[in-house]
Amino acid sequence: MTVKLVKTQEVQILLDKLSGLDQQAGDARLKAIVRRIVGDLFATIEDFNISDDEVWQALNFAARGSAEFGLWAAGLGLERFLDIRADAADAAAGLTGGTPRTIEGPLYVAGAPESVGYARMDDGSEEGKVDTLILHGQVRDVNGAPIEGAKVEIWHANSLGNYSYFDTTQSEFNLRRTIFTDADGRYVTRTTLPVGYACPEGGSTETILKNIGRHGNRPAHVHYFVSAENKRHLTTQINIDGDPYLHDDFAYATRDELVPPVKRLTGGALAERCSVSGEHVEIQFDIMLHAASSKQEEHASARPRAAG
Ligand SMILES: [Fe+2]
Repeated sequence: MTVKLVKTQEVQILLDKLSGLDQQAGDARLKAIVRRIVGDLFATIEDFNISDDEVWQALNFAARGSAEFGLWAAGLGLERFLDIRADAADAAAGLTGGTPRTIEGPLYVAGAPESVGYARMDDGSEEGKVDTLILHGQVRDVNGAPIEGAKVEIWHANSLGNYSYFDTTQSEFNLRRTIFTDADGRYVTRTTLPVGYACPEGGSTETILKNIGRHGNRPAHVHYFVSAENKRHLTTQINIDGDPYLHDDFAYATRDELVPPVKRLTGGALAERCSVSGEHVEIQFDIMLHAASSKQEEHASARPRAAG
């Protein structure tokens, strides 16, 4: 079936009216956006011969599943698309050399404990059950100059794939820290090696993905917000190399430049500094920030976020 009804005068007038185009009041850009979205929805209903029952079922599903809209944004590629747009804008502006961005996901929590140079991120509750990870690196500008006082916010899941705050069995801000880089632009953290996780079983995201033949798994990863004065805010992640879902992420966040080598070591200077004895894992992740061209660029997007 091809779209015919939507093109009729009757439906076109309806679209004009429902999007407020026949009213003086209201925002012109918003009217145009509403008209486009609703018109595309009407065309989809007509084109795929979607039944009344299916329309109401879909609205009810969206209403009931709305608590997971953050995961829908990841799983349906919306976050990835926003990154593709931002990357395209950078390419058009000739911006190269910075650490690549990748999606934020819905699990950031503001207010994590702050320190300078070093932090231990885990509360010790998984010690001995999971690999200890020493994660470190240097923050530089695109010319290679170290940035002192850069704000490195790190958050990741525990060995069950769960995040503190959202998982109320974990201590407050477990596996979440804010580290300001030292005089050499360096940060060091002792934490636990995260594992990958899946969308909640039986939740709306998993239901959608299952019905279109997809899975809702993410490879193990660590989230970063990195910011500094006069530098562009960076939202990124690193993936843990070797994860079976490394190149099969349901959120499409994996980027080859964001898979640093994983070293398995015993002892060493960093282990000593972090009071780690025995075998552990070390990952170095250096970050390069672009100069900000406006004050707004120094901050993360205005996405609503949880605060602990
Ligand atoms: Fe995550």
